[in-house]
Formats: sequence, structure tokens, C-alpha cells
Amino acid sequence: MSNPINEGSIKLIAPKTEKISKEMGVFYNPVMSLNRDISILLLNSINKNNLQIADILAATGVRSIRFLKELSKIKIKKIYINDYDKKAIKLIKENLTLNGIQYKNNKKINIHNEDANLFLLNSTGFDYIDIDPFGTPNNFLDASCRRISRDGILAVTATDTSALCGTFPKACLRKYWAMPRKDAIMHETGLRILIRKIQLAAAQYDKALIPIFSYSKQHYMRIFLKNEKGKNKVDAILKQHGFFNNAGPIWLGSLWDKNLVNKMHKNALKNKIFDQNKELIKFLKTIKEESKINAVGFYDLHDISEKNKIKHLQKKEVILDKIKKVGYKASETHFKGEGIRSDIPYPKLIKLLQK
Ligand SMILES: C[S@@+](CC[C@H](N)C(=O)[O-])C[C@H]1O[C@@H](n2cnc3c(N)ncnc32)[C@H](O)[C@@H]1O
Repeated sequence: MSNPINEGSIKLIAPKTEKISKEMGVFYNPVMSLNRDISILLLNSINKNNLQIADILAATGVRSIRFLKELSKIKIKKIYINDYDKKAIKLIKENLTLNGIQYKNNKKINIHNEDANLFLLNSTGFDYIDIDPFGTPNNFLDASCRRISRDGILAVTATDTSALCGTFPKACLRKYWAMPRKDAIMHETGLRILIRKIQLAAAQYDKALIPIFSYSKQHYMRIFLKNEKGKNKVDAILKQHGFFNNAGPIWLGSLWDKNLVNKMHKNALKNKIFDQNKELIKFLKTIKEESKINAVGFYDLHDISEKNKIKHLQKKEVILDKIKKVGYKASETHFKGEGIRSDIPYPKLIKLLQK
């Protein structure tokens, strides 16, 4: 066990780790601090009060403790911190105490040591459920979709990107019922495959899960979906499942609620915990710009110039300006440094690059 570390506004005791792996059981991954930052910014940017939160795979409890300390704009009615590992429960309690949070005889804080699915199915439901597993979230989708309340938010992480992005297409077919494609835009395709799978799990219960914030970063993907109940809404979602570049079926609708993204970016700039975090601010700004563009997939400039034998590729900023000048929308994309999101048709873009 190491000395306490800092993340956001909290202190944390976590097992010392050389390499993050599934076999480690309870673990703390500092790389995932951005994942937690974004969860906090998102919850602080929705108008909701008296939230019942379930952190079903809590490990050290870092996420729940940050929620308790940093959700300043919404009121938590109850938070459930669950993990099936006894060592995790011990750590969660230690970390709550370390941060001055009294959990004994506190109706707001409920610690559970159960299998996540049993925990969910024995509950009456939640306004926010966080699925943050090592690997695929598949095992937890059914129970989470059953127990997410009307207008509730389901947050899902997946770290099995090798299946979703096409290194192991058969695994993707088995787990996500869709064909991935290992190409320049594989991260967006993988994210959209995952979204469709979550939507199918919810559709069985007449729940329409609409993505409000989605991204792919490093070794993982993350999606927040809002639950809107109603058969017609579910039917409308299913109509937006289809193929793109022979990959799929994928979700062809929007990846973001652009008003929410705007708010999250603004809130990050105003918040002392986040305003100095250049990586996070830049990440949100890029997503804010790309959320304004209605386009599935993005253009990888290096890939396109190679395929079309364009020898002198201009700077990305120059290309973005040129596209805008001919009347189309264009922005960077968070998926890839050399990528641009635009509604310009492919042949027109090639002509513009060749000029
Ligand atoms: C990736 S870690 C969670 C990380 C944590 N959410 C965070 O933000 O740091 C996954 C955790 O899920 C727990 N876990 C795995 N399968 C579970 C199950 N079926 N029920 C409950 N807990 C489970 C593991 O013990 C582990 O602590």
C-alpha cells in the first residue's frame, strides 16, 4: 500500500501497482482521472436534484468520494458504493474516513459488498448508474438498463477496445453483435458499435437510451446515455442503427448533446479543480466544436492524402479554414490528431486538398 495520493480535491489510499491488469482485483488507475473528471463535470452540468447514484464497481471508492466532495451543483440524495471484493470495501471505508466523510449511521452513504448485478436487481432503481469495469461492460448492461430510472443517466466505460476497434473482429461479433473495421476511423466506429449494443439492451425494456456525451481515449471508451421511456422513442432509436463503410450495425445518430457539452466546457473553465488542467480543457473544447457538426465518421488527413497521392498536405488549420470558406462546417476531432470532422463530401475535400 502506498502513501495517500491526490486526485481532484481528494486524498486516496490505493494498492501499489506496477501494471494495470484484471488479475489485480481492486486497483486505482491514475490515467482514468480524466474519466472521473468528466463524470463530475457532466453531473454538475445537468439540472437535477435529489439524485440516487449507484457506483456499482467502486474499487477504491475514488469516484464516489469525488462525487461526494465535488458535485457542488446537484444534491445527492443517496449514493451506493458497491464492490464484490472485500478488500475494496475495506479501502472504500478507509478512503471515506481519510477524506473526513462520516459513513456510519449516514443514510446518504450506503456501502454494499455484493455482485453488481444482484445489487442492482435487489434495488428499486437509480438516477445515475456508473459501469466502470475492467474490459467489457456487457455483464452489467441488462441489470443496469432495468434499473435506470426515467430521465436517468447510464455511464458506461469499455476497455476492450481491441474487440471494438477490429483487432479481434470475431470477438466483436460475439460480444457486440456488429462487425468492426480496423481502419483510420476505427475508434469512432467502435464507440458507435458499443452505443448500439447498450441501446439494444435497453430497448427490450422500452427504454430509449440517447447518447449525451461520448468519447474514446487511450485504452478506453466512455458513454453517457439519458434514458427516455417510450415505445416510439425506442423505435426512433432503432431506425438510426445501420452500416457505415461496411462496418456495423452502428449508432448513426449524434454522439453528444451540444448544449450539455457547452455547459461542461464553461463549468470546467470556472472550476478551481479543473481550470488549470490544460489537457481536460482542450479535450472539452475540441468535443464542443465537433459536437456542432452533423457527420458520422471523420476524415484522416494523412490517410486520405496517401490514398490520393497528395504530396504536399497543408496544415490542418489551413484546411479547416478552406472548408469553411466553401460553405461547410469543419473542426478538429478528439478521436485523432490528424483527423477532421466535416460535412464536406469526400470528392469535394479531395479537390480542395489537391489545389
Ligand atoms: C476497473 S475497477 C473499478 C474502478 C473504479 N470505478 C474507479 O473509478 O477507479 C473494477 C472493479 O470492479 C469490481 N468487480 C468486478 N466484477 C464485479 C462484480 N460482478 N460485482 C461487483 N464488483 C465487481 C472489481 O473488484 C474492481 O474493484
